[in-house]
Amino acid sequence: MDPTSAPVAPPAWTPSSWRQLPAAQQPEWPDPQALEAVLAEVARQPPLVFAGEARALRAELARVAAGEAFLLQGGDCAETFAAFSADGIRDKLKILLQMAVVLTYGAQLPVVKVGRIAGQFAKPRSKPTETVDGATLPAYRGDAVNQLDFSADGRVPDPHRLMQVYHQSAATLNLLRAFTRGGFADLERVHQWNREFVADSAQGQRYEALAAEITRALSFLRACGVDVDNDPTFHTVDFWTSHEALLLGYEEALTRRDSLTGDWYDCSAHMLWAGERTRAVDGAHVHFLSGVGNPVGVKIGPKADPDEIAELSKRLNPDGVPGRLTLITRMGAEAAPTHLPTLVRGVRDLGLPVVWSCDPMHGNTYTVNGGTKTRHFTDVLSEIRTFFAVHDQEGTVPGGIHIELTGEDVTECLGGAQEIADTQLDHRYESACDPRLNNKQALELAFQVAQMLRE
Ligand code: PEP
Ligand code: CO
Repeated sequence: MDPTSAPVAPPAWTPSSWRQLPAAQQPEWPDPQALEAVLAEVARQPPLVFAGEARALRAELARVAAGEAFLLQGGDCAETFAAFSADGIRDKLKILLQMAVVLTYGAQLPVVKVGRIAGQFAKPRSKPTETVDGATLPAYRGDAVNQLDFSADGRVPDPHRLMQVYHQSAATLNLLRAFTRGGFADLERVHQWNREFVADSAQGQRYEALAAEITRALSFLRACGVDVDNDPTFHTVDFWTSHEALLLGYEEALTRRDSLTGDWYDCSAHMLWAGERTRAVDGAHVHFLSGVGNPVGVKIGPKADPDEIAELSKRLNPDGVPGRLTLITRMGAEAAPTHLPTLVRGVRDLGLPVVWSCDPMHGNTYTVNGGTKTRHFTDVLSEIRTFFAVHDQEGTVPGGIHIELTGEDVTECLGGAQEIADTQLDHRYESACDPRLNNKQALELAFQVAQMLRE
């Protein structure tokens, strides 16, 4: 754009008006016609979520903004077609439910549970290409776009993958709905969620003690005459889905008009976010998100300043609706103490109603062993500590955390009670993109965060 020209008003919003604006991080699809044909097919599919659900999540997030609830958002950096299994989905839900129990019980606050799941298939990349042994190919951009496998054919963006994204998201969401409504998430099963890893971990045992307290509390309620068995509060949970709204053609295809209100909703997930690399105020992503009624998030790195946030808030939440906008700060443990206070103060002084959430993962990534991406548990914890300290100091609400994790016992992040060392990373390093906390590290984190919330 010509920097001397006056700012141009964004186009009037429609689901496709983002196409008139620069969109960062879009794949170079070799055959645009094939892409449009697949998108037309996605547009014929039923919505994955309903507008009313997205509104319900927004109301929950309004409680988070007010300090009456805590947001726990987590899941894979990138979902893949290869790792798709019922057990994998169950285990991810299980660890999130366990973390939520620890946080609810520890902090005596309701926990709003949002998965990075059922749609998290596209990745922004810091470089458009990747070079291995002298060969340069397009970067892997998530299973929605191309293959992780380093081969010339596999790295060509293939739009047919978008159809598979839709179907895998639908199947994942279907299972999540069954698990959370059909008894698996029953509070009376708190012990069962723990079964596999209680025997061999300190966190598992600590969790078991807490689960025993919950069981006693339920018995107490029963003895007092509360109809525990028939009150759904104890037997079902609300579990929401989210992903980065990166591939705007796909998001457009699932954007539908709500018959009740006439408003547009992106029905690919309950909550969508723009990444640190796609949040340009005048860019296509922010414009697209400005027109859908879902709660939206924006990742905020150390370079952001309060004016930029004010601009983003003007676009994304002009009416100041609480719960509509979540700012997910990801500064890094080192930068957070100097960068976060200015931002929090600036946004507070502007009176912008936002949910503050802390992503302690993406500012703390580094490589070891000649190229393996990792994060240290200590850095993750340290950034969360800073997050709580800064909000405490500024009189703002530390609303939640945004974590990359998995329900399995992978070795991708260093440290934690298991003291995973860099020499152990190759034992079970399975992430297609960024390193995730394993189930024990995730549970350990929840105990630590519960403690911070109590304080
Ligand atoms: C992510 O959440 O996986 C991600 C890429 O985050 P960010 O945009 O903050 O770098
Ligand atoms: Co990531």
